Amino acid sequence: MRVLVIGSGAREHALLLALRKDPKVTGLAIAPGNAGTARLADQHDVDVASAEDVVALAREVRADLVVIGPEVPLVLGVADAVRAAGIACFGPSRDAARIEGSKAFAKEVMAAAGVRTATSETVDTPAVLDAALDRFGPPAGDPAWVVKDDRLAAGKGVVVTSDRDVARSHAAGLLESGHPVLLESYLDGPEVSLFCVVDGPTVVPLLPAQDFKRVGDGDAGPNTGGMGAYAPLPWLPGDVYSEMVDHIVKPVAAELVRRGCPFTGLLYAGLAITAKGPAVVEFNCRFGDPETQAVLALLESPLGQLLYAAATGTLADFGEPRWRDGAAVTVVLAAENYPGRPRVGDVIAGAEAEGVLHAGTARRADGEIVSSGGRVLSVVGTGDDLTAARAAAYGVLRSIRLPGSHFRRDIALAAAEGRIHL
Ligand code: GLY
Repeated sequence: MRVLVIGSGAREHALLLALRKDPKVTGLAIAPGNAGTARLADQHDVDVASAEDVVALAREVRADLVVIGPEVPLVLGVADAVRAAGIACFGPSRDAARIEGSKAFAKEVMAAAGVRTATSETVDTPAVLDAALDRFGPPAGDPAWVVKDDRLAAGKGVVVTSDRDVARSHAAGLLESGHPVLLESYLDGPEVSLFCVVDGPTVVPLLPAQDFKRVGDGDAGPNTGGMGAYAPLPWLPGDVYSEMVDHIVKPVAAELVRRGCPFTGLLYAGLAITAKGPAVVEFNCRFGDPETQAVLALLESPLGQLLYAAATGTLADFGEPRWRDGAAVTVVLAAENYPGRPRVGDVIAGAEAEGVLHAGTARRADGEIVSSGGRVLSVVGTGDDLTAARAAAYGVLRSIRLPGSHFRRDIALAAAEGRIHL
Protein backbone atom coordinates (compact mmCIF):
# COMPACT_ATOMS: atom_id res chain seq x y z
CA MET A 1 0.00 0.00 0.00
CA ARG A 2 1.36 3.43 -1.00
CA VAL A 3 0.37 6.21 1.39
CA LEU A 4 0.45 9.97 0.83
CA VAL A 5 0.41 12.05 4.02
CA ILE A 6 -0.66 15.69 3.83
CA GLY A 7 0.81 18.16 6.34
CA SER A 8 4.08 19.49 7.68
CA GLY A 9 4.09 19.16 11.46
CA ALA A 10 5.43 16.79 14.09
CA ARG A 11 2.00 15.10 13.93
CA GLU A 12 2.71 14.13 10.32
CA HIS A 13 6.25 13.06 11.26
CA ALA A 14 4.69 10.76 13.89
CA LEU A 15 2.18 9.43 11.34
CA LEU A 16 5.02 8.56 8.93
CA LEU A 17 7.02 6.79 11.64
CA ALA A 18 4.01 4.66 12.58
CA LEU A 19 3.03 4.00 8.95
CA ARG A 20 6.58 2.88 8.17
CA LYS A 21 6.25 0.10 10.77
CA ASP A 22 3.20 -1.34 9.00
CA PRO A 23 4.37 -4.31 6.86
CA LYS A 24 1.67 -3.60 4.27
CA VAL A 25 2.93 -0.05 3.66
CA THR A 26 5.32 -0.24 0.71
CA GLY A 27 5.71 3.44 -0.17
CA LEU A 28 5.43 6.77 1.64
CA ALA A 29 5.08 10.27 0.26
CA ILE A 30 4.41 13.56 2.05
CA ALA A 31 3.44 17.09 1.08
CA PRO A 32 4.74 19.56 2.01
CA GLY A 33 6.63 17.98 4.95
CA ASN A 34 9.69 19.36 6.74
CA ALA A 35 13.39 18.57 7.18
CA GLY A 36 12.64 15.55 9.37
CA THR A 37 9.92 13.97 7.25
CA ALA A 38 12.16 14.23 4.15
CA ARG A 39 14.21 11.37 5.61
CA LEU A 40 11.17 9.07 5.76
CA ALA A 41 9.16 9.78 2.64
CA ASP A 42 9.33 11.26 -0.85
CA GLN A 43 8.65 14.90 -0.26
CA HIS A 44 6.56 17.09 -2.60
CA ASP A 45 5.93 20.79 -2.40
CA VAL A 46 2.24 21.32 -3.11
CA ASP A 47 -0.38 23.71 -1.81
CA VAL A 48 -2.26 21.40 0.56
CA ALA A 49 -5.31 23.68 0.52
CA SER A 50 -5.70 23.06 -3.22
CA ALA A 51 -7.87 20.01 -3.86
CA GLU A 52 -6.71 19.94 -7.47
CA ASP A 53 -3.01 19.88 -6.52
CA VAL A 54 -3.48 17.21 -3.85
CA VAL A 55 -5.43 14.96 -6.24
CA ALA A 56 -2.79 15.46 -8.95
CA LEU A 57 -0.05 14.50 -6.49
CA ALA A 58 -1.99 11.47 -5.21
CA ARG A 59 -2.25 10.27 -8.82
CA GLU A 60 1.41 11.02 -9.54
CA VAL A 61 2.63 8.96 -6.55
CA ARG A 62 -0.03 6.30 -7.26
CA ALA A 63 -1.33 6.56 -3.68
CA ASP A 64 -3.66 3.83 -2.45
CA LEU A 65 -4.45 5.91 0.62
CA VAL A 66 -4.26 9.65 1.35
CA VAL A 67 -4.07 10.68 5.03
CA ILE A 68 -4.87 14.35 5.62
CA GLY A 69 -3.31 15.74 8.80
CA PRO A 70 -4.34 19.40 9.21
CA GLU A 71 -7.83 20.85 9.53
CA VAL A 72 -7.57 23.52 6.84
CA PRO A 73 -7.61 21.19 3.78
CA LEU A 74 -10.34 19.10 5.44
CA VAL A 75 -12.56 22.10 6.06
CA LEU A 76 -11.98 23.14 2.43
CA GLY A 77 -13.15 19.75 1.11
CA VAL A 78 -9.84 18.25 -0.07
CA ALA A 79 -10.89 14.78 1.19
CA ASP A 80 -14.04 14.94 -0.97
CA ALA A 81 -11.93 15.62 -4.05
CA VAL A 82 -9.53 12.74 -3.28
CA ARG A 83 -12.45 10.32 -2.84
CA ALA A 84 -14.13 11.64 -5.99
CA ALA A 85 -10.91 10.73 -7.83
CA GLY A 86 -11.39 7.13 -6.68
CA ILE A 87 -8.59 7.15 -4.08
CA ALA A 88 -9.21 6.06 -0.48
CA CYS A 89 -8.88 8.98 1.92
CA PHE A 90 -8.53 9.11 5.70
CA GLY A 91 -10.16 12.43 6.51
CA PRO A 92 -13.72 13.71 6.74
CA SER A 93 -15.74 15.38 4.01
CA ARG A 94 -16.13 19.15 4.03
CA ASP A 95 -19.61 18.73 5.52
CA ALA A 96 -18.42 16.45 8.36
CA ALA A 97 -15.36 18.64 9.03
CA ARG A 98 -17.75 21.40 10.13
CA ILE A 99 -17.60 19.68 13.54
CA GLU A 100 -14.33 21.65 13.86
CA GLY A 101 -14.73 24.36 11.23
CA SER A 102 -18.08 25.72 12.46
CA LYS A 103 -18.57 26.11 16.17
CA ALA A 104 -22.29 26.72 15.65
CA PHE A 105 -22.62 23.40 13.75
CA ALA A 106 -20.69 21.55 16.48
CA LYS A 107 -22.99 22.95 19.17
CA GLU A 108 -26.07 21.98 17.14
CA VAL A 109 -24.81 18.41 16.66
CA MET A 110 -23.94 18.07 20.34
CA ALA A 111 -27.34 19.39 21.42
CA ALA A 112 -29.09 16.91 19.10
CA ALA A 113 -26.86 14.07 20.36
CA GLY A 114 -27.57 14.98 24.00
CA VAL A 115 -23.90 15.58 24.78
CA ARG A 116 -22.78 17.78 27.69
CA THR A 117 -20.81 20.84 26.59
CA ALA A 118 -20.17 24.45 27.57
CA THR A 119 -22.94 26.99 27.06
CA SER A 120 -21.93 29.58 24.51
CA GLU A 121 -22.93 32.77 22.78
CA THR A 122 -21.61 34.34 19.58
CA VAL A 123 -20.97 38.09 19.70
CA ASP A 124 -20.60 39.85 16.36
CA THR A 125 -20.88 43.50 17.31
CA PRO A 126 -19.04 45.56 19.98
CA ALA A 127 -22.36 47.11 21.06
CA VAL A 128 -23.46 43.90 22.80
CA LEU A 129 -20.05 42.80 24.11
CA ASP A 130 -20.27 44.18 27.65
CA ALA A 131 -23.70 42.72 28.34
CA ALA A 132 -22.54 39.35 26.97
CA LEU A 133 -19.40 39.41 29.14
CA ASP A 134 -21.65 40.03 32.14
CA ARG A 135 -23.65 36.90 31.33
CA PHE A 136 -20.46 34.77 31.33
CA GLY A 137 -17.58 34.52 33.79
CA PRO A 138 -17.58 35.59 37.45
CA PRO A 139 -19.70 36.47 39.37
CA ALA A 140 -22.27 34.53 37.30
CA GLY A 141 -20.88 31.27 38.66
CA ASP A 142 -17.85 30.50 36.51
CA PRO A 143 -14.26 30.99 37.65
CA ALA A 144 -13.12 32.41 34.31
CA TRP A 145 -14.07 33.92 30.97
CA VAL A 146 -13.45 31.83 27.87
CA VAL A 147 -13.15 34.04 24.78
CA LYS A 148 -12.60 32.33 21.42
CA ASP A 149 -11.89 33.53 17.94
CA ASP A 150 -14.83 31.98 16.06
CA ARG A 151 -12.54 30.82 13.19
CA LEU A 152 -9.87 28.16 12.88
CA ALA A 153 -6.99 29.66 14.87
CA ALA A 154 -4.51 26.81 15.49
CA GLY A 155 -5.27 26.86 19.22
CA LYS A 156 -4.03 30.40 19.62
CA GLY A 157 -7.33 32.27 19.35
CA VAL A 158 -8.52 31.31 22.84
CA VAL A 159 -8.12 33.38 25.98
CA VAL A 160 -9.17 31.91 29.34
CA THR A 161 -8.90 34.52 32.09
CA SER A 162 -10.41 35.67 35.38
CA ASP A 163 -9.55 39.26 34.44
CA ARG A 164 -12.52 40.95 32.76
CA ASP A 165 -10.30 43.61 31.14
CA VAL A 166 -8.16 40.91 29.49
CA ALA A 167 -11.28 39.08 28.26
CA ARG A 168 -12.79 42.32 26.96
CA SER A 169 -9.64 43.44 25.20
CA HIS A 170 -9.21 40.08 23.37
CA ALA A 171 -12.87 40.11 22.31
CA ALA A 172 -12.81 43.78 21.28
CA GLY A 173 -9.62 43.24 19.24
CA LEU A 174 -11.22 40.39 17.30
CA LEU A 175 -14.44 42.35 16.74
CA GLU A 176 -12.48 45.39 15.52
CA SER A 177 -10.84 43.20 12.89
CA GLY A 178 -14.30 42.05 11.81
CA HIS A 179 -14.20 38.58 13.39
CA PRO A 180 -17.05 37.19 15.51
CA VAL A 181 -16.23 36.11 19.04
CA LEU A 182 -17.50 33.08 20.91
CA LEU A 183 -18.02 33.41 24.67
CA GLU A 184 -18.27 30.11 26.53
CA SER A 185 -18.88 28.99 30.07
CA TYR A 186 -15.74 27.66 31.71
CA LEU A 187 -15.54 23.89 32.13
CA ASP A 188 -13.57 23.17 35.27
CA GLY A 189 -11.61 19.92 35.60
CA PRO A 190 -8.65 18.05 34.11
CA GLU A 191 -8.69 17.91 30.33
CA VAL A 192 -8.56 14.81 28.14
CA SER A 193 -7.89 14.51 24.41
CA LEU A 194 -9.73 11.46 23.16
CA PHE A 195 -8.90 10.41 19.57
CA CYS A 196 -11.29 8.02 17.85
CA VAL A 197 -10.89 6.46 14.43
CA VAL A 198 -14.38 6.75 12.94
CA ASP A 199 -16.08 5.30 9.90
CA GLY A 200 -19.73 6.41 9.89
CA PRO A 201 -21.27 4.94 13.06
CA THR A 202 -18.22 2.77 13.90
CA VAL A 203 -15.96 4.27 16.57
CA VAL A 204 -12.56 2.84 17.53
CA PRO A 205 -11.07 4.81 20.43
CA LEU A 206 -7.31 5.25 20.87
CA LEU A 207 -5.43 5.78 24.13
CA PRO A 208 -6.54 8.90 25.99
CA ALA A 209 -3.97 11.71 26.19
CA GLN A 210 -3.57 15.12 27.77
CA ASP A 211 -1.97 18.17 26.20
CA PHE A 212 -0.54 21.38 27.65
CA LYS A 213 -1.87 24.45 25.91
CA ARG A 214 -0.27 27.29 27.85
CA VAL A 215 3.23 28.37 26.98
CA GLY A 216 4.76 28.33 30.46
CA ASP A 217 5.29 25.96 33.38
CA GLY A 218 2.35 25.78 35.78
CA ASP A 219 0.01 26.76 32.90
CA ALA A 220 1.32 30.33 32.86
CA GLY A 221 1.14 32.66 29.86
CA PRO A 222 -0.86 32.62 26.65
CA ASN A 223 -2.35 29.65 24.81
CA THR A 224 -0.33 27.94 22.09
CA GLY A 225 -0.91 25.17 19.58
CA GLY A 226 0.31 22.79 22.34
CA MET A 227 3.60 22.57 24.26
CA GLY A 228 3.60 18.88 25.17
CA ALA A 229 1.47 15.83 25.83
CA TYR A 230 1.44 12.38 27.40
CA ALA A 231 -0.44 9.11 27.16
CA PRO A 232 -2.04 7.14 28.66
CA LEU A 233 -3.69 8.89 31.64
CA PRO A 234 -3.11 6.88 34.83
CA TRP A 235 -5.58 9.06 36.73
CA LEU A 236 -8.52 8.49 34.34
CA PRO A 237 -10.89 5.77 35.61
CA GLY A 238 -12.02 3.16 33.05
CA ASP A 239 -15.70 3.98 33.55
CA VAL A 240 -15.13 7.66 32.73
CA TYR A 241 -13.21 6.64 29.57
CA SER A 242 -16.11 4.36 28.56
CA GLU A 243 -18.60 7.17 29.24
CA MET A 244 -16.64 9.46 26.92
CA VAL A 245 -16.66 6.87 24.14
CA ASP A 246 -20.21 5.54 24.58
CA HIS A 247 -22.08 8.68 25.62
CA ILE A 248 -20.16 11.39 23.80
CA VAL A 249 -18.24 10.24 20.68
CA LYS A 250 -20.60 7.46 19.56
CA PRO A 251 -23.76 9.63 19.78
CA VAL A 252 -21.99 12.44 17.87
CA ALA A 253 -20.82 10.02 15.16
CA ALA A 254 -24.39 8.66 14.94
CA GLU A 255 -25.84 12.17 14.72
CA LEU A 256 -23.47 13.01 11.84
CA VAL A 257 -24.69 9.88 10.03
CA ARG A 258 -28.30 10.92 10.72
CA ARG A 259 -27.62 14.35 9.21
CA GLY A 260 -26.25 12.81 6.02
CA CYS A 261 -22.63 13.75 6.67
CA PRO A 262 -21.03 10.58 8.09
CA PHE A 263 -17.56 11.15 9.49
CA THR A 264 -14.61 9.23 8.07
CA GLY A 265 -11.33 9.93 9.78
CA LEU A 266 -10.11 10.97 13.19
CA LEU A 267 -12.73 12.47 15.47
CA TYR A 268 -10.97 14.24 18.35
CA ALA A 269 -13.01 15.04 21.44
CA GLY A 270 -11.43 17.65 23.70
CA LEU A 271 -13.07 17.08 27.07
CA ALA A 272 -12.99 18.42 30.60
CA ILE A 273 -13.79 16.03 33.45
CA THR A 274 -16.11 18.28 35.46
CA ALA A 275 -17.80 17.53 38.77
CA LYS A 276 -20.84 16.44 36.70
CA GLY A 277 -18.77 14.14 34.47
CA PRO A 278 -17.03 14.57 31.13
CA ALA A 279 -18.10 17.55 29.03
CA VAL A 280 -16.95 18.61 25.57
CA VAL A 281 -14.69 21.64 25.24
CA GLU A 282 -14.43 21.19 21.47
CA PHE A 283 -14.42 18.63 18.68
CA ASN A 284 -11.68 18.54 16.07
CA CYS A 285 -11.79 16.73 12.75
CA ARG A 286 -8.18 15.42 12.70
CA PHE A 287 -5.37 14.04 14.83
CA GLY A 288 -4.29 16.49 17.56
CA ASP A 289 -0.81 17.88 17.79
CA PRO A 290 1.19 17.19 19.98
CA GLU A 291 -0.91 14.34 21.49
CA THR A 292 -0.50 12.21 18.33
CA GLN A 293 3.25 12.07 18.90
CA ALA A 294 2.68 10.42 22.30
CA VAL A 295 -0.27 8.21 21.34
CA LEU A 296 1.29 6.73 18.19
CA ALA A 297 4.58 6.04 20.01
CA LEU A 298 2.65 3.34 21.92
CA LEU A 299 0.64 1.86 19.03
CA GLU A 300 1.47 -1.73 18.12
CA SER A 301 -1.28 -2.36 15.57
CA PRO A 302 -0.47 -1.53 11.93
CA LEU A 303 -1.49 2.11 11.45
CA GLY A 304 -1.74 1.95 7.65
CA GLN A 305 -4.20 -0.93 7.84
CA LEU A 306 -6.24 0.80 10.56
CA LEU A 307 -6.56 4.05 8.59
CA TYR A 308 -7.23 2.18 5.33
CA ALA A 309 -10.01 0.20 7.03
CA ALA A 310 -11.68 3.44 8.13
CA ALA A 311 -11.21 4.99 4.68
CA THR A 312 -12.79 2.00 2.91
CA GLY A 313 -15.74 1.30 5.21
CA THR A 314 -14.34 -1.83 6.89
CA LEU A 315 -13.35 -0.42 10.29
CA ALA A 316 -15.88 -2.60 12.11
CA ASP A 317 -13.79 -5.65 11.09
CA PHE A 318 -10.48 -4.23 12.33
CA GLY A 319 -10.92 -4.99 16.04
CA GLU A 320 -9.39 -3.12 18.95
CA PRO A 321 -5.95 -1.56 18.46
CA ARG A 322 -3.08 -3.10 20.44
CA TRP A 323 -0.80 -0.94 22.59
CA ARG A 324 2.61 -1.46 24.10
CA ASP A 325 2.76 -1.26 27.89
CA GLY A 326 4.15 1.86 29.50
CA ALA A 327 3.85 5.56 28.75
CA ALA A 328 4.93 8.18 26.25
CA VAL A 329 5.67 11.86 26.78
CA THR A 330 6.31 14.50 24.14
CA VAL A 331 7.79 17.93 24.83
CA VAL A 332 7.68 20.71 22.25
CA LEU A 333 10.72 22.88 21.66
CA ALA A 334 9.48 26.28 20.51
CA ALA A 335 11.28 29.15 18.84
CA GLU A 336 12.05 32.40 20.66
CA ASN A 337 8.96 34.58 21.04
CA TYR A 338 6.46 31.78 20.23
CA PRO A 339 3.38 31.94 20.42
CA GLY A 340 4.06 35.45 19.16
CA ARG A 341 5.88 35.95 15.84
CA PRO A 342 8.68 33.37 16.12
CA ARG A 343 12.35 33.94 15.43
CA VAL A 344 13.28 31.65 12.51
CA GLY A 345 16.33 30.76 10.41
CA ASP A 346 18.61 29.56 13.24
CA VAL A 347 20.68 26.41 12.92
CA ILE A 348 19.47 23.58 15.19
CA ALA A 349 22.04 21.21 16.68
CA GLY A 350 20.90 17.71 17.65
CA ALA A 351 17.75 17.71 15.52
CA GLU A 352 18.49 14.30 14.00
CA ALA A 353 18.63 12.36 17.27
CA GLU A 354 16.29 9.40 17.88
CA GLY A 355 12.91 10.50 19.23
CA VAL A 356 13.12 13.99 17.71
CA LEU A 357 10.14 14.76 15.49
CA HIS A 358 10.22 17.84 13.30
CA ALA A 359 7.62 20.58 12.84
CA GLY A 360 8.98 24.04 11.97
CA THR A 361 12.22 22.95 10.33
CA ALA A 362 13.78 23.24 6.90
CA ARG A 363 17.05 22.09 5.35
CA ARG A 364 19.22 24.97 4.16
CA ALA A 365 21.17 24.77 0.89
CA ASP A 366 24.37 24.08 2.88
CA GLY A 367 22.72 21.03 4.49
CA GLU A 368 22.11 22.57 7.95
CA ILE A 369 18.70 22.09 9.58
CA VAL A 370 17.22 25.48 10.53
CA SER A 371 14.12 26.62 12.39
CA SER A 372 11.25 27.77 10.17
CA GLY A 373 8.23 28.02 12.49
CA GLY A 374 6.99 28.54 16.04
CA ARG A 375 6.82 24.94 17.23
CA VAL A 376 10.14 23.62 15.95
CA LEU A 377 10.57 20.09 17.31
CA SER A 378 8.56 17.57 19.32
CA VAL A 379 10.76 15.29 21.39
CA VAL A 380 9.20 11.94 22.30
CA GLY A 381 10.28 9.71 25.17
CA THR A 382 8.81 6.34 26.11
CA GLY A 383 9.30 4.22 29.22
CA ASP A 384 7.71 1.84 31.67
CA ASP A 385 5.84 4.72 33.30
CA LEU A 386 5.47 8.48 32.99
CA THR A 387 8.54 9.16 35.13
CA ALA A 388 10.71 7.05 32.82
CA ALA A 389 9.12 8.54 29.69
CA ARG A 390 9.70 12.07 31.01
CA ALA A 391 13.33 11.26 31.76
CA ALA A 392 13.79 9.93 28.21
CA ALA A 393 12.23 12.98 26.54
CA TYR A 394 14.00 15.57 28.70
CA GLY A 395 17.28 13.67 28.29
CA VAL A 396 17.09 14.08 24.50
CA LEU A 397 16.12 17.75 24.86
CA ARG A 398 19.35 18.42 26.77
CA SER A 399 21.31 17.49 23.63
CA ILE A 400 19.46 19.95 21.36
CA ARG A 401 20.67 23.52 20.82
CA LEU A 402 18.57 26.26 19.23
CA PRO A 403 19.30 29.90 20.18
CA GLY A 404 16.44 31.57 22.09
CA SER A 405 14.29 28.44 22.14
CA HIS A 406 12.14 27.40 25.08
CA PHE A 407 10.17 24.40 26.34
CA ARG A 408 8.04 23.53 29.34
CA ARG A 409 9.71 21.57 32.10
CA ASP A 410 6.52 20.24 33.69
CA ILE A 411 4.97 18.13 30.91
CA ALA A 412 3.26 15.11 32.58
CA LEU A 413 4.84 16.01 35.93
CA ALA A 414 1.62 16.28 37.96
CA ALA A 415 0.37 12.97 36.53
CA ALA A 416 3.72 11.25 37.18
CA GLU A 417 3.58 12.45 40.79
CA GLY A 418 -0.04 11.33 41.25
CA ARG A 419 -1.30 14.88 41.76
CA ILE A 420 -4.29 14.75 39.40
CA HIS A 421 -7.53 13.84 41.16
CA LEU A 422 -11.09 13.80 39.92
N1 GLY B 1 -3.67 19.63 20.83
C1 GLY B 1 -4.52 20.63 20.34
C2 GLY B 1 -4.89 20.50 18.93
O1 GLY B 1 -4.36 19.68 18.20
O2 GLY B 1 -5.76 21.23 18.51
